Amino acid sequence: MQLFLDTTDIDALKGLAATGLVDGVTTNPSLIAKSGRPMLEVIAEICGLVEGPVSAEVAATDYEGMLNEGLKLAALASNVVIKLPMTRDGLIATQHFAREGIQTNVTLCFSSNQALLAAKSGATFVSPFVGRLDDVGEDGMGLIHDIRAVFDNYAFDTEILAASIRTPAHVHAASIAGADAVTVPPAVFEALFKHPLTEKGLEQFMSDWAKAGQSIL
Ligand code: G3P
Repeated sequence: MQLFLDTTDIDALKGLAATGLVDGVTTNPSLIAKSGRPMLEVIAEICGLVEGPVSAEVAATDYEGMLNEGLKLAALASNVVIKLPMTRDGLIATQHFAREGIQTNVTLCFSSNQALLAAKSGATFVSPFVGRLDDVGEDGMGLIHDIRAVFDNYAFDTEILAASIRTPAHVHAASIAGADAVTVPPAVFEALFKHPLTEKGLEQFMSDWAKAGQSIL
């Protein structure tokens, strides 16, 4: 499963990219606004920090605007993935970019029927928002299971990018459900490394080693 960071925080990205475990980055208009920086500048910087796909979302809601903005974003770097909303115009634009061989990520997906349309449109990724479904009392992870079954039934190439991930438990559940990727905030990524028994066990090993009075070198 690919692990993407859902962030525009450059310092956090640099720190986690250094682990060699960050497979890509996703952004959205809210994250860009939070950065306080020009979108083209921050996307270009992110593309220079990771080799994997970097999702950059159009702001236009009409087909022509999506095409114009998408082409400008794609021109920033070879690893830019154009993020398009799960709307009629967004899917028509997805089909256009698919014909051009330009990678896309259909976002704001909340049903398996929407994911089906994204896959039929040739999307590279589809982003079902797990946390936001949970927020309204629906089964966000159940949607990942459903989309996995649908995509496997018809051998769609579109990859399931589980998004709106809030906890390490979400990451675990998404991996069991068969998501191709998850995108997580930096704090969730950091939490993936940790378990109290690991920390306790290491402390004990170090304490016992110190008592042994030995050196490996
Ligand atoms: O960036 C797409 C998605 O991960 C947003 O998550 O937490 O704003 O629902 P969230």
